[in-house]
Amino acid sequence: MRDLIRPLVVAPMAGGPSTPALVTAAIAAGATGFLAAGYKTPQAVEAELKAVEGAYGLNIFVPSPVPVDVPALERYRRLLRPEAARYGVELPALRLDDDDHFTAKIELAIAYGVPLVSFTFGVPDRAVVTALQQAGSRVLITVTSAAEAARALAAGPDALIAQGGSAGGHSATTSPDGFTGDTTTLDVLAAVRSEVPVIAAGGVSEAATVERLLGAGALAVQCGTAFLLADEAGTRPAQRDFMLAGRGAETVITRAFTGHPARALRNRFTDTYSEVAPIGYPAVHHLTAPIRAAAAQAADADTINLWAGTGFRSARSGTTAALVARLMPGSQS
Ligand SMILES: Cc1cc2nc3c(=O)[nH]c(=O)nc-3n(C[C@H](O)[C@H](O)[C@H](O)COP(=O)(O)O)c2cc1C
Repeated sequence: MRDLIRPLVVAPMAGGPSTPALVTAAIAAGATGFLAAGYKTPQAVEAELKAVEGAYGLNIFVPSPVPVDVPALERYRRLLRPEAARYGVELPALRLDDDDHFTAKIELAIAYGVPLVSFTFGVPDRAVVTALQQAGSRVLITVTSAAEAARALAAGPDALIAQGGSAGGHSATTSPDGFTGDTTTLDVLAAVRSEVPVIAAGGVSEAATVERLLGAGALAVQCGTAFLLADEAGTRPAQRDFMLAGRGAETVITRAFTGHPARALRNRFTDTYSEVAPIGYPAVHHLTAPIRAAAAQAADADTINLWAGTGFRSARSGTTAALVARLMPGSQS
């Protein structure tokens, strides 16, 4: 794995931040980089596979439907009406079935011989893992606990990603009910007993923490939030401005935007809806999508999902090369 996984991994970040330019720059700077296939059409993923350079990775969401409470989703839909009215958009009918084009994305990874394929939100079937490996890919599965690690290992991956509750964006947890996000990355790394290498992810924004996690046995450390302000990242302007203006006071775990627990910068939307939003990904994701799109268009950071991990205060703008250099083990800055 060491040939492909460098000590620092620039995390896949769906929803805009991960671009082929970010991944290519990360690899050129000596890190490992992942494209994010999540939410994209297979055509859009293919265009990115053609645009990226180097020994890159591709991240794919595993469809992991959880039991949903349809009346609770309908209640949430009614609660969101004032938000829709505020932006002049229609709330769509509930949509419960969406596998994010899983099979087509696996077929693309196989066709392009993608060097690294990582998964989040669940464990792919062993047959999928084997097919990717036979096509030359190394397969990584994201886990948040010892129990999830044991289930993931049964599918035969080449490595695990141990994600702490401090991580920005959606948690990889397969138990969204009761997820509090209070595990540290070191806790999860220590809890995961694995015969394959483990990459640590979550809340890391300083070279000293990268070194500590490598010292604790991690093969590499995967950072997302630390690259949100990179020149090559496709982070939405509203989120960039919010972070650069120092408007982020703290992060919270919320399912208000998508129905799955995620760590985001606290804003008006998380304050208003975190307590009442039901579990139900991707139904809630689809429900809030028009509101979030209109708010992003209006550069209203108070209504969009500002995914970020606990280390958000240390995120800096600049070239990816400079940010990679700053986080590499041994860096003094
Ligand atoms: C904006 C954003 C989007 C993310 N999207 C994905 C994704 O598409 N797939 C995935 O496996 N992880 C995703 N993550 C989680 C990262 O892989 C990683 O676990 C996390 O960024 C590590 O924590 P940090 O953000 O504190 O560095 C995302 C994180 C952020 C901040």
